[in-house]
Amino acid sequence: MKIVTIVGARPQFIKAAAVSREIARHPDVTEIIVHTGQHFDKNMSDVFFEEMQIPTPRYHLNINSMNHGAMTGKMLEGIEPILLKEKPDFVMVYGDTNSTLAGALAAKKLHIRVVHVEAGLRSFNMQMPEEINRILTDRISDILCCPTDKAVENLKQEGFEHFPSKVIKTGDVMQDASLYYNTFSADKSAIINDLGLAGQDFTLCTIHRAENTDDPERLSGIFAALHEISLEMKVVLPLHPRTRKIAVTLGLIPELINSQLLIVPPVGYFDMIELLKNTRIVLTDSGGVQKEAFFFLKPCVTLRDETEWVELVDKGFNALAGAGKDKITNACSEMKGKQFDFNVDMYGSGRASKNIIEAITEHR
Ligand code: UD1
Ligand code: UDP
Repeated sequence: MKIVTIVGARPQFIKAAAVSREIARHPDVTEIIVHTGQHFDKNMSDVFFEEMQIPTPRYHLNINSMNHGAMTGKMLEGIEPILLKEKPDFVMVYGDTNSTLAGALAAKKLHIRVVHVEAGLRSFNMQMPEEINRILTDRISDILCCPTDKAVENLKQEGFEHFPSKVIKTGDVMQDASLYYNTFSADKSAIINDLGLAGQDFTLCTIHRAENTDDPERLSGIFAALHEISLEMKVVLPLHPRTRKIAVTLGLIPELINSQLLIVPPVGYFDMIELLKNTRIVLTDSGGVQKEAFFFLKPCVTLRDETEWVELVDKGFNALAGAGKDKITNACSEMKGKQFDFNVDMYGSGRASKNIIEAITEHR
């Protein structure tokens, strides 16, 4: 059996790392990786292939830094001849980026079965490019691998019971990755000492969502909150290139930087795990980082108005704070004062990749 995996953005490398490790345990399954090139800086791409030992992509399309239509169109054009040549049994796509939609659409038009890992998530906010990508990808997928019960329920609500596709709850592959790579990260990463964080309370923050970066009021509100929090304890902000570019243009960085607000380039996965393990609290607008806060037993304040990972909010591990300064700082104080029992299995406890490969081999 042959699977072509399409990846392009940082969270997809992390998800694919977990699934590729499982595929490698099946000698009868061949995986060919296509990298669209959507993320291209060394610390947004290569570092993950090296650290996580992801097989080297057979094809690299080098498509990035374009508007949505142009990027998705160029990817479709680049992926199609690869699929015609490789004739895989399945195309596997991850999450909700432009690379996801392009991979799924190219495959479906060639009548190749599509496996969507992280299917069924919804924010119910059609302004988000991710929501459009995931709805369209789900609709043309053949095997929909849902990370949570809520994702399965969302698909039921949309009538998937009546479609000829298979919806399964597999669990979340990001939990597989965090459990496995956590066993190496302390030996591989020196970030806690390098940033002078040993023995100190600090806040870990990531920001990259279009709804925050492309709205100066929201981005300024978030940076103002970080500045205020940093007067109390260090804040570590590994900054996505998109956010850095815009924050520099808006003049936010020189204005807000101080010795307690550590703005650093994006970090590798081992460094990220160590930051997550040692932080007091996580502030983020990332999908993946919200769950990783939970995996590493940390409360999370989400810098968005809604989330796809509603179970974290329902169970109190995550507070939605939007992008207003006071709401963020208040949520942060409140979450820091709470005690949590993180002993809840919501994401499959490390079996998701196994479940996905089992589901595919049943449908070969
Ligand atoms: C993309 C995904 C988003 C995902 C995020 C993960 C879409 C529509 N968005 O957003 O769902 O959460 O990845 O991080 O697919 N850039 C660099 N270097 C890089 C990567 C990006 O400079 O290595 C710059 C690009 O040139 C561009 C900007 O960052 O100007 C945005 O990149 P893009 O891939 O379009 O979207 P992301 O914001 O990264
Ligand atoms: N991540 C990382 N280094 C960083 C920031 C994030 O390794 O500097 C990892 C993070 O641990 C998670 C993934 O990137 O596994 C999340 O990707 P991102 O936030 O870019 O995208 P999203 O999950 O929002 O789609």
